[in-house]
Amino acid sequence: MYPLHRRDRRPQGQPTRGKTARNRLRRVDNFLLIYAGSLIRRTDGLFAAAFFVDLGYGAEPFTTLESAARLRRANPRLPVLGVEIDPERVARALPYADELTQFRLGGFNLPLQAGETVRLIRAFNVLRQYQEHEVRGAWLTMGWHLLPDGLLIEGTSDPHGRTWVANLLRRTPDGLRYEGLLFGTNFRGGFAPELFQPVLPKNCIHRVIPGERINDFLDAWKLAARQTVAYRAWGPRQWFSASARELAAQGWPVDVRRRLLYQGYLLWKDSPGEKFLPFEFGPWPDLLPYS
Ligand SMILES: C[S@@+](CC[C@H](N)C(=O)[O-])C[C@H]1O[C@@H](n2cnc3c(N)ncnc32)[C@H](O)[C@@H]1O
Repeated sequence: MYPLHRRDRRPQGQPTRGKTARNRLRRVDNFLLIYAGSLIRRTDGLFAAAFFVDLGYGAEPFTTLESAARLRRANPRLPVLGVEIDPERVARALPYADELTQFRLGGFNLPLQAGETVRLIRAFNVLRQYQEHEVRGAWLTMGWHLLPDGLLIEGTSDPHGRTWVANLLRRTPDGLRYEGLLFGTNFRGGFAPELFQPVLPKNCIHRVIPGERINDFLDAWKLAARQTVAYRAWGPRQWFSASARELAAQGWPVDVRRRLLYQGYLLWKDSPGEKFLPFEFGPWPDLLPYS
């Protein structure tokens, strides 16, 4: 635990395996360009120089550099900060730094300098190597560093990024709001709701058991997939989209925008009645919980 007003500058967290792969997070970036395009483009006030942070980029900085190039299609002057808790991985990335792209040693308590701000944090394939009870504290600590309306995307993928699941959390003026659970696929392995189970993020992976909301959701999705199986003849994209619309028809708060579904993104939106996770985190505690 550390007080907000006397923040400990030591990186919070622990080094974990650094495995990564080129283009592993391409589809996460493409989702962000659709879903958070205006956040990436914003240049008003404190957003003018606000970072996109890639926390835990791994043994090589490929994913950070690739995201910098992709997200700069929307905002050519987007500042990007790669954060690693392993000093050797920071040293390996430093030769790739440039005017807009930096790499620093740090943890969930981001290594920001006075006056620096953050619009978006991506932490992928980091928390699965932690304990479940550490997740909430890590979210709060990262989320505290975001500007209001900023977004945290935290998730898990398979080794090549074909299938992945991520939590979305939104910074509010006095807290952090759980926005939803996002399922992503490039359909290389076809489509079945079961394919997402191995890549559920840490807060869900041990909860696929009766009585848990994620279990109810996956059961409902499997049923919706069976009910729409006729669409399989048109390919996995059409079947995936039809199953999502069926989920919505059954009352599940999923985003059925064609643009998202056709690209293989299913967002299960949280809402106060949903009780999937505490909807609001905050107001901020005097002490940030991660230690
Ligand atoms: C498996 S790699 C993920 C690399 C990349 N994000 C990807 O998805 O391919 C996880 C990395 O997270 C780093 N890490 C773990 N905890 C961290 C923390 N609290 N702050 C910063 N980096 C952390 C580890 O050192 C490791 O290099």
